Amino acid sequence: MKKIIIAIDGYSSTGKSTIAKRLARALGYIYVDTGAMYRAVTLFALENGMFTTEGIDKEGLLKSLGSINIRFEKKKGGEDAETLLNGKNVEDKIRSMEVSNRVSNIAAIPEVRHKLVEEQRKMGEDKGIVMDGRDIGTVVFPDAELKLFMTASPEIRATRRYKELLGKGKEVTYEEVLKNVSERDYIDSHRADSPLVKAEDAIELDNTDMGKDEQFERIYNHTIRFIEQLG
Ligand code: C5P
Repeated sequence: MKKIIIAIDGYSSTGKSTIAKRLARALGYIYVDTGAMYRAVTLFALENGMFTTEGIDKEGLLKSLGSINIRFEKKKGGEDAETLLNGKNVEDKIRSMEVSNRVSNIAAIPEVRHKLVEEQRKMGEDKGIVMDGRDIGTVVFPDAELKLFMTASPEIRATRRYKELLGKGKEVTYEEVLKNVSERDYIDSHRADSPLVKAEDAIELDNTDMGKDEQFERIYNHTIRFIEQLG
């Protein structure tokens, strides 16, 4: 079957990565979580004291951009690739609220986006990839063969993320998570560079009232039919 690029965009905590991972596994494709890349840059800035009382030390961050290396690697025996920042596994750290509360400000910096978008395009050179994020179908791969745009009510998204964080043993409140999800959506949709918008040719999927399996089956069946039609 022909290999294609599948772009999955949408609001925070709409379950993009769960679907993208499952779809990639079922198709034998590579999965790339671009949110993890913005999160890794944010962690780098945090660990290097670049969040100051006056705001982000943008000059310092831009000077260091060239020395930030982000890779994905599967743990021995693990199913999912984990994020490495300059060779160190940071998968757990990048999911913290400390990073979540700052990542959208880092992701609004054009030079940061430029670096990461370039790396993302390289990863998709050979197609056979499912990539999720905010600008995949609009900026990273505007010619992606298949584009999905996922939405759900803010409350249901916050509930899902809250349960996920609790399950990982994180200490958070529902209100904190809801505030974070809403603030990120606002910043991501209003930034000047590559704001979060639905690509004109993306299929919109509102999964507020849909379970994970139903969602996956719909998307998987659609994808298979789509690829088969390509010949
Ligand atoms: O996907 P996730 O929620 O982990 O992404 C974290 C943040 O990274 C988003 O809220 C957004 O600010 C940024 N992001 C982005 N462009 C992408 C992926 C993520 O700006 N392609």
